[in-house]
Amino acid sequence: MIDVQSGQTQCLRLGVNVDHVATVRNARGGIHPDPVRAALLAAQAGADGITAHLREDRRHISDADIAKLMADLHIPLNLEMAATEEMLTIALRHRPHAVCIVPEKRQERTTEGGLNVADSQIYLSPFVRKLTESGARVSMFIEPDERQLDAVKNLDVPVVELHTGAYCDAPAGILREQQLERIQHAADYADKIGLECHAGHGLGYDTVGPIAAITTLTELNIGHFLIGEAIFIGFQEAIRRMRKEMEIARIPA
Ligand code: PXP
Repeated sequence: MIDVQSGQTQCLRLGVNVDHVATVRNARGGIHPDPVRAALLAAQAGADGITAHLREDRRHISDADIAKLMADLHIPLNLEMAATEEMLTIALRHRPHAVCIVPEKRQERTTEGGLNVADSQIYLSPFVRKLTESGARVSMFIEPDERQLDAVKNLDVPVVELHTGAYCDAPAGILREQQLERIQHAADYADKIGLECHAGHGLGYDTVGPIAAITTLTELNIGHFLIGEAIFIGFQEAIRRMRKEMEIARIPA
């Protein structure tokens, strides 16, 4: 559905992840290309929010990028971070609109799989409390799994983001369908137990439609594909086309 006033998808926000603009910058050092400039362009092209993951090893986004995003952005910043004391201190200093707690392993190429909230509730609880007290909307990045959703709810975290990596990596056909069903079921279950539900990871034009069609999802976070597509058609055009795919998927049949 298209909001006639804003021209944007009703009820399904697009968060643009700018991490890999910083990956390209860091491949050479220096300041080009600038993820903050990308974030401002994304906002102009219709992004509802910007996501940036400050990793422990600072392989892409830097501390200075977070400070500049906080200073320059006029749309919400969603800071992704591991549950560590260092990251907590940074988040409490900057007080972004939202914080998404993600699992992090040094050797991984990207965030492989969701956070095991169910088995780390005692560890995670003080992070949730301090971030919530700072005014951040806390979310957790998890696999589409009821046990994990129950644990997120139990921690009084209001938002959950479902990892769509297994769905995107599955070959088109029955295996991808099975992964889609897991996500559909988890999103509906999240809605039932009162969690706002987001999704993301690995989404591109060919995989976003069925996910965007899940009406219990309110936000998709997309990065790597958009940055890659920007090489061919430009960043803003890639974002506009992604929004279009999301809108088409939301039009009732
Ligand atoms: N959501 C979360 C929580 C992420 O950590 C990431 C990036 O790893 C994304 C969404 C975006 O994934 P991608 O860059 O594959 O679109």
